[in-house]
Amino acid sequence: YGTQAINGRGHLCIGGIDTTVLAKEYGTPLYVYDTALIKSKINEFKQAFARHAGVNWQIAYASKAFSSIAIIQLIDEQGLFLDVVSGGELYTALSAGMNPKRIHFHGNNKSHAELAMALDAKIGAIIVDNFFELDLLEKMCADRNQEIDILLRVTPGVEAHTHEFIMTGQDDSKFGFNLGNGMAERAVKQSLQSLHLNLIGIHCHIGSQIFETDGFAGAIKIMIKHVSAWTHDFGFQLQVLNVGGGFGIHYTDSDRPLPIECYIDTIVTTAKKECDCYNLSLPSLWIEPGRSIVGEAGTTLYTVGSSKDIPGIRKYLSVDGGMSDNIRPSLYQAQYQAICANKANEAAQSQVALAGKCCESGDVLIKEAFLPESCTNGDLIAVFSTGAYGYSMASHYNRIANPAVIFVEDGEASLVVRRETYEDLIRQDLALKDLSRNN
Ligand code: LLP
Repeated sequence: YGTQAINGRGHLCIGGIDTTVLAKEYGTPLYVYDTALIKSKINEFKQAFARHAGVNWQIAYASKAFSSIAIIQLIDEQGLFLDVVSGGELYTALSAGMNPKRIHFHGNNKSHAELAMALDAKIGAIIVDNFFELDLLEKMCADRNQEIDILLRVTPGVEAHTHEFIMTGQDDSKFGFNLGNGMAERAVKQSLQSLHLNLIGIHCHIGSQIFETDGFAGAIKIMIKHVSAWTHDFGFQLQVLNVGGGFGIHYTDSDRPLPIECYIDTIVTTAKKECDCYNLSLPSLWIEPGRSIVGEAGTTLYTVGSSKDIPGIRKYLSVDGGMSDNIRPSLYQAQYQAICANKANEAAQSQVALAGKCCESGDVLIKEAFLPESCTNGDLIAVFSTGAYGYSMASHYNRIANPAVIFVEDGEASLVVRRETYEDLIRQDLALKDLSRNN
């Protein structure tokens, strides 16, 4: 995808740079982001909305997909808004110099300290998830004599066709105020009575890695129907309808993502139609893509180490990373594709299991990878579409240090997250205070 190409030496290049050169300079495992591809994805979203004249819209990048100072600066430079879900993501965004007004804060259990941080920074909006938060925020704002724009996260009862763990819009969900049982209505009423919380709209997020538009249309229909009742019953004026993220991407050739404009067309036309139907004016339409902005732009480079051939069963090829830098295969049975980056022109006919180095049988990145017969110790492997929920879900299992992250574009590479060292791994550790008690 993007700027990927194979050079005359049969090596995979990204952003005009030979991946073997990147591996040599920065080491492996290495997360490589093709920033030209990130920008072109952002443009696809912008252009899809621009086709609909007269419609107000806003795109917020869901930073949970990949958060670091540099990516936030890139997002900011591209004029997007930002969605954060924790004090840590908010801190990263503020440290990156993001205008707080362009930040939205999500999450089903924001702490007092996190809300205080958001109020101190005077961020653009808080997406309130539950009654505990609604009460807490009201009290905090009253104490500070401060106002804040809020959206209410609602659970529309729509099930998107995706993995159960990343499905969030159905009735039995830890997120949001349910629409079906009056919870959302009570929350709207309470917010409208507030002197400090300025209810500007409602939000839903129906799931992630979604390949069809029905779920979005269904959620919008249900939400607008309820909004119309609230407008009629207690004068609620909907300014913003936020339909979250979840737009699917290509991981393997069996994934058939829709063009971005299909999702946006559905969102816009459904919202227009439903608003017309209930005689409501069209609110500003907000989306929060994460994966679809950074997912395909990320490639992880690994070096092959050991191998194990079990005759008649399977051959394992182990790389120098694994579930510590990409938990998705073991957590969601997520599928990926890989090539041997230094033998990119060789026929990839040998089926192997591409294993990680963690002490866990489930640490297999790709169960059935097709690589050249000659692929062996010292060769470079590129696993594609690792840009979302890879680095951001990395762990220190087995005390494996997190890889470095680099951005590449137009033949230039820049280090944006340093590789962790062993010293980093023990930085927060404290020695036993009184060693003598062991004697
Ligand atoms: N907005 C809200 C409120 C969300 O909860 C999410 C994702 C997004 C936006 C962005 O969704 P995206 O466009 O990236 O699909 N760790 C899982 C994905 C969890 C998504 C959680 N929420 C994975 O690796 O597949």
